[in-house]
Amino acid sequence: MHIFLIAAVSIDGYIAQVTDQVSTAWTSKEDHKFFVQRTKQAGAMVFGSKTFQTFNRLLPGRANIVYTRDPQQFMQSVTLPTVEVTIETSTFEQTDVLYVTKLAPKELVTVLEKAQITELAICGGSSIYSQFMKNGLVQTVYLTVEPVIFGKGVPLFGEPLDAKLVLKKVVNLSDQTLLLEYAVQ
Ligand SMILES: NC(=O)c1ccc[n+]([C@@H]2O[C@H](COP(=O)([O-])OP(=O)(O)OC[C@H]3O[C@@H](n4cnc5c(N)ncnc54)[C@H](OP(=O)(O)O)[C@@H]3O)[C@@H](O)[C@H]2O)c1
Repeated sequence: MHIFLIAAVSIDGYIAQVTDQVSTAWTSKEDHKFFVQRTKQAGAMVFGSKTFQTFNRLLPGRANIVYTRDPQQFMQSVTLPTVEVTIETSTFEQTDVLYVTKLAPKELVTVLEKAQITELAICGGSSIYSQFMKNGLVQTVYLTVEPVIFGKGVPLFGEPLDAKLVLKKVVNLSDQTLLLEYAVQ
């Protein structure tokens, strides 16, 4: 399975000013378009519960998988239909439900592979990016650099990492927004 990380960053490496800030508050329409197109192509996406709470709805046309350490409590707290992902889960075909999980990243990848999912988008936030990166699961990184400086905020990664990458592609999404594609070595 191909696993890619997809994030928009300020030029000083932050993914948000504060935890409850929705990304579309400061990212460009070109980045949004790329995010929707690339994650739909992947078919499955994961994000942490804090990121989910910033938009609080299903993103259509993709399997939405939310990480929480307490799936039962989380499932009661949302008004959407939900399904818990366990090691027994064999399909992610329902696009009208929110999948919820506390599986370790490697376990989730195994379950997705068994369900014939060929691509997975890691959609943040910081804690989810860090855990998939730390476990050596990320093969590609898509980074949209927006022309803003936050000075402080939520960093792309919140813990020590030591990864080497190769720059594969630079795309001008507009005259203001740069998309960088890296392969993780
Ligand atoms: N710019 C971008 O591209 C971008 C993309 C995504 C997010 N963001 C921003 O990132 C911020 C949120 O990032 P964050 O790091 O604070 O939060 P997060 O990663 O979105 O969510 C953290 C939550 O995920 C759950 N979780 C984390 N690791 C887990 C594990 N191993 N097992 C089970 N559950 C686990 C926990 O949920 P429970 O507390 O429910 O147990 C934890 O509190 C927001 O501001 C958002 O806008 C930006």
